[in-house]
Amino acid sequence: MIRQAQHDVLVQRTHDEEARQGFSQAMNLMIYSTIQPGNRDMYSEKVEPAFRRKHGRTPANRAEIRDVMLREPYTQMWSAIKVASREYRQDVVGECIERQLLGLVDKAKATSKSNHKLGSLMLDPSVKTPRYVDAVDIHNTPGGYHREIIEDDVFAGAMYDRGVFIHMMSLMGDKCDDIGLSQATWLKETYPDLKPKRILDIGCTIGHSTLPYADIYPDAEVYAIDISAPLLRYAHARAESLGASVQFSQQNGEDTKFAPGSFDLVVSHILFHETSNKALRRIVEECFRLLKPGGVMAHSEGPQFKDLQPMDIFFVDWDTHFQGEPFSAAMHELDLPQIAVDAGFKPEKVFEKFIPSLMMSKITSGYKPGVRGGGNWFLMGAQK
Ligand SMILES: C[S@@+](CC[C@H](N)C(=O)[O-])C[C@H]1O[C@@H](n2cnc3c(N)ncnc32)[C@H](O)[C@@H]1O
Repeated sequence: MIRQAQHDVLVQRTHDEEARQGFSQAMNLMIYSTIQPGNRDMYSEKVEPAFRRKHGRTPANRAEIRDVMLREPYTQMWSAIKVASREYRQDVVGECIERQLLGLVDKAKATSKSNHKLGSLMLDPSVKTPRYVDAVDIHNTPGGYHREIIEDDVFAGAMYDRGVFIHMMSLMGDKCDDIGLSQATWLKETYPDLKPKRILDIGCTIGHSTLPYADIYPDAEVYAIDISAPLLRYAHARAESLGASVQFSQQNGEDTKFAPGSFDLVVSHILFHETSNKALRRIVEECFRLLKPGGVMAHSEGPQFKDLQPMDIFFVDWDTHFQGEPFSAAMHELDLPQIAVDAGFKPEKVFEKFIPSLMMSKITSGYKPGVRGGGNWFLMGAQK
């Protein structure tokens, strides 16, 4: 396991806090590597044959798979352990942040007031949090992405940063930037003539995936938007501390304040599955409006269900029902290229691709297109 990259607003851990967070990470690793795969054996050796004997066919959709899997005591045990382990992680990271929250708020405030900033932060209290974000505690994290308990709160940002690093068992790198790094690297190789002057990242959260664009396109101005103020305050302080110039602002990706044709490259990373069907379509329409002719949009996600095996579909479906991600499964069933065409992109300019995860490619012998967790990212995009 690697250590998380240090920066000014990363929570500091005492010896005991580090031990508890390390235990949380190790427990997650055990769940994913040892317990979760048992569901695959259960399905192929017991559940699917029994279903076939009874119905004369295999389960036709995720609801049927869920129905039979959740009757299995093994799957019930796995499910309960997964929920408990996430709650444990939130407890141990949450109490660690609470102990030092006022100090983190002061650091973020000092960054935004500094005269030596590389980037900027613009908050807009008139931006309304969409219902698909504030009606649930996304990831079952108390307060989700948006809740503010104290003035100038950064709790949600601090929780996301440390929580994702632990949850991903360091598989996304020491800055949790594998998605952005892999996508930006692929874009640069695939569109060598693009040379973007202005780049926008929609739904940037705390900038994990945004910062690689500043490195890979050093001549571009990098903009990043999110609807959540506590995430953006943290994102700005983190970016400055890591030496990246990013212009953060609080905006809704469905309807931004940027002028038409403002960007050469518009990207998002694992945003779609956390928006509603309607919002996703509006975000893609907004990408079309924001791009200059010849500009490119690219959105990464997990693979769509059409490219997945039944058990991988079951795991996404499980997140949808038990992990506070209510739109995830429905998103994985959408025809994303058609949505891009509906938004105005020409069909021949729309693409769907599996691109290698740079981090996973280092760890494993290669990546397996279409296999969730096989070390790849799914990308939908288009050139205008
Ligand atoms: C899963 S996170 C994205 C992670 C981030 N892109 C990364 O790679 O680290 C989804 C983010 O999208 C934001 N979001 C959801 N709907 C949005 C919208 N309509 N406009 C802007 N941000 C939005 C949420 O606040 C949340 O921070």
